[in-house]
Amino acid sequence: MSVLFADLVGFTARSERLDPEDVLAVLRPYHARLRSEIEAFGGTVEKFIGDAVVGIFGAPVSHGDDPERAVHAALAIIDAITDMNSGGSGLDLSVRVAVNTGEVVVATGARVSEGEGMVTGDVVNTASRLQAAAPVNGVLVGEETYRTTRSAFEYRDVAPLVVKGKEKPVRAWETMRVTTAPDSRQSRDAPFFGRASDLASLRSIWRRVAAERVVHLAAMFGEAGIGKSRLAAEFLHEVERDRADVFRGRAVPYGANTLYGPFAQHVKQVAQIFASDSGAVGRQKLAEATMALDVGDPAHVTACVAFLVGIGGGGEVADRRVLFEAARQWVQAVANRRPTVLVFEDVHWADTGTLDLLELFATRIHGSPLLLLALARPELLETREHWRSPLATYTPLYLEPLDRDTAADLASWLLASARGRQQEADTSIILDTAQGNPLFIEEFATSLGERSTDRARILPTTVREVIAARLDALPARERSVVLDAAVVGRTFWRGALQWLHADPDVDGALHALQARAIVVREPLSWIENDEQYSFKHVLIREVAHATISRRRRSERHAAVAAFLEARTGGGGATATALADHWREAGDRDKAVRYLLLAADQASRGWAKEQAADLYREALDLLAEDDSERRRQIAKLRAVAMQAAYHVTDARLLAQRPGPGSAGIR
Ligand SMILES: Nc1ncnc2c1ncn2[C@@H]1O[C@H](COP(=O)(O)OP(=O)(O)O)[C@@H](O)[C@H]1O
Ligand SMILES: [Mg+2]
Repeated sequence: MSVLFADLVGFTARSERLDPEDVLAVLRPYHARLRSEIEAFGGTVEKFIGDAVVGIFGAPVSHGDDPERAVHAALAIIDAITDMNSGGSGLDLSVRVAVNTGEVVVATGARVSEGEGMVTGDVVNTASRLQAAAPVNGVLVGEETYRTTRSAFEYRDVAPLVVKGKEKPVRAWETMRVTTAPDSRQSRDAPFFGRASDLASLRSIWRRVAAERVVHLAAMFGEAGIGKSRLAAEFLHEVERDRADVFRGRAVPYGANTLYGPFAQHVKQVAQIFASDSGAVGRQKLAEATMALDVGDPAHVTACVAFLVGIGGGGEVADRRVLFEAARQWVQAVANRRPTVLVFEDVHWADTGTLDLLELFATRIHGSPLLLLALARPELLETREHWRSPLATYTPLYLEPLDRDTAADLASWLLASARGRQQEADTSIILDTAQGNPLFIEEFATSLGERSTDRARILPTTVREVIAARLDALPARERSVVLDAAVVGRTFWRGALQWLHADPDVDGALHALQARAIVVREPLSWIENDEQYSFKHVLIREVAHATISRRRRSERHAAVAAFLEARTGGGGATATALADHWREAGDRDKAVRYLLLAADQASRGWAKEQAADLYREALDLLAEDDSERRRQIAKLRAVAMQAAYHVTDARLLAQRPGPGSAGIR
């Protein structure tokens, strides 16, 4: 959590000569302005102490990039004061600001809006010391803030502060200026080219959803790298500026999907649940979030949704319909607060339960402004035939390769930015090879720029080859960090890399990899107080992972599993991931243990097919002569399969459209 402290310079002395009325008249707009600057970056005003203000970032809502938000707010406050001075009030105010980051004691239940203090602790005290030492109209930050934000701001070293009651001097830095804008961490991304009509379709769907308060499912289909995620991101930026709520969920390849993966991520974002929370803490947070929603029976809905997302307690519900109906109510209540988008990314990897749930939302929620945005490769249409044809509440969008002109614009831009000049020959080679696939164009252009691919030698014919060439050409340290990251997964954490890596400068390598647009920092983190990153594209992760030798791979997977066990308590949402890592590590016993745990959760969440699959995987790992356990698991599997048939029956029934329903069939 980050604390921001701002105080007017010399105001107290001046206010002694003024009427209390006049003091208030000065302070009121000042307070209002500071509050709006702090809130604009996602912070909360904790309290005003006379002319000083304390803002907090990371509680009650943690964004994962709170230190950066706090420093942006600090700079905005300085600008705001200058702005107010020039507003003709005759005032000449100055301010000193500080930001400090660390563990803070939060008093839950304090009524912040009524000025009750929420946070205390050393971090807060140090923030106030830093503030007092800050230059006039300047910002000073502490060590942790500096460390986590130094890629986003330019800093100047200042002399350490000697603070009463502290043995060691407190290190401090002055923030000089912004080096990356708050929203452009992916600043190496090319501008968005083409796709005007796809964007227009999405906008018009959204206008209808928000204005007429209806539910709509939009599905975007296209090959890997064609630009689904990017188009969605461009569109969602606009939606978020509209003050809508956007929750993002994504399915992952192989067995590593958690129960109802994408939906579970939505729930956890709404309720602020981290993978590092225990099951009990998760249930508690879910209960609180559900209480704040308008659902008929919060206790029942909480219990059901908890089962669905794999954090339920004991017991089981008799029927999948009960769980799904509760999830429907819950999502409807979320959308009733504010127009909402639920993103289901990469659903070609989703299990049937997730897709059934998504269809249920699309057909059975009425009268709420809700857009369900699904992204998938075309292979999804092989199992969900009926997703091919549009309906009143369903729109499929097929993303085509970029046309040659658009592709040429993209390639030229990328070449120019990589080399400062471009060569006609490069552009045409790229266009002939990459076939309008923006990922391919991007990787190819970058690799020509980096000279990891050489036009005079053999040219790559697939995007994987280009990626492999780029990874090969990385400096040793970056390469070893990126390979470790690939072991963790598409999504990984700074903490995991530090755990895996003897090299103390993981940060340096991470910054370099970000600059090369191989990894991106994510705005949210599933592990509390850690930074979350992901590979810019899942194909990059796949290629990197395939590069690792088998022996090294198993040793590294064991280390990642140990990290997850230590940081996530080992159960709950990470059971399938842990099973995967232990299996890759060659530890069958542990893999089986987590598979059984995951199967049990899946079963309680009525993802019976998934449960049966997980039992099957466990059987595959057990030794032939372990007959007692084999028998037990085979029995569990049979029960799950039996139940899965009932679910299938129910699905067929549900597919018969209800009266007046224009839903998907
Ligand atoms: N229209 C576009 N203009 C510029 N860059 C694009 C465009 N579409 C995609 N890209 C870039 O190409 C890469 C792959 O796109 P992405 O959306 O991740 O593909 P997908 O989700 O379909 O696999 C990304 O780096 C993205 O920024
Ligand atoms: Mg994608």
